[in-house]
Amino acid sequence: MSFGVVGAKKSISQFLRSRLSERSWSALERSVIRARRFAKIVAHPYGRFVKTPIKLHQNGSKVVRMLEIGPGPQRIEGYETVNVVWARHVDYVADASRKLPFRDATFRSIYASHVLEHTAWYRHEEVLKEWVRILAPGGNLDVWVPNGLKIAKSFVAAESGENTDFLEDAWWKFNPDKDPCVWANGRVFSYGDGTGRVGDPNWHLALFSERYLVHLLQRAGLEQIHRLSDEHVLGHNHGWINLGVRGVRP
Ligand SMILES: C[S@@+](CC[C@H](N)C(=O)[O-])C[C@H]1O[C@@H](n2cnc3c(N)ncnc32)[C@H](O)[C@@H]1O
Repeated sequence: MSFGVVGAKKSISQFLRSRLSERSWSALERSVIRARRFAKIVAHPYGRFVKTPIKLHQNGSKVVRMLEIGPGPQRIEGYETVNVVWARHVDYVADASRKLPFRDATFRSIYASHVLEHTAWYRHEEVLKEWVRILAPGGNLDVWVPNGLKIAKSFVAAESGENTDFLEDAWWKFNPDKDPCVWANGRVFSYGDGTGRVGDPNWHLALFSERYLVHLLQRAGLEQIHRLSDEHVLGHNHGWINLGVRGVRP
């Protein structure tokens, strides 16, 4: 998507927002979400059963390959993409918490930003072992997640009147009063698709500390594990709560 299109979408949405009442705006937002969901229901089988095999064939002969798991709205240059839901820039429609449709040691680099928390916490060892299976020896796996420990500490600090550090975050959907408990709910559980639909892939199913994320990467067989800094963010930077760790496959 070009910046022009993004900009136009933004200004149309700003224009509508300024003209509509809060209630009409919410109704419009819900309709857009439903329309998108419907479009995805139609597009999903195409992505999974037509585009995915074609892309697997097309990319199969590439020498150097990099994969993004759970991409945002734009492709990171040079990366192939896998997502559980279809989108135009998604190459492979597959659930990254299950067996992936790639041969062992396929990718030189794997980038997964804010996707591991959408998979069940008690399956992470299995999930990460599968991601490491498709990583080439010497290749790196970068995992970014919300910093659960920071969220928990900030929640406790705000509720006990110690500080309001949580205000440094930028996560205020459904929270016009910036209530710390509503903030913590949004951060810990997320918003799904914003309509409360059970089963949406965007609910959070896990919480992490840096120690635990490092431990998971070790259990998955990675080495040289270290914390990442902002300069390693390739897509959207989740800012204050962002926690990134890299491991290398021996
Ligand atoms: C919060 S978004 C993160 C987008 C982007 N990577 C970023 O950092 O902003 C989570 C993405 O992961 C995808 N996702 C969730 N569960 C998944 C799964 N089991 N397998 C593959 N993708 C998944 C969602 O569809 C969504 O595109």
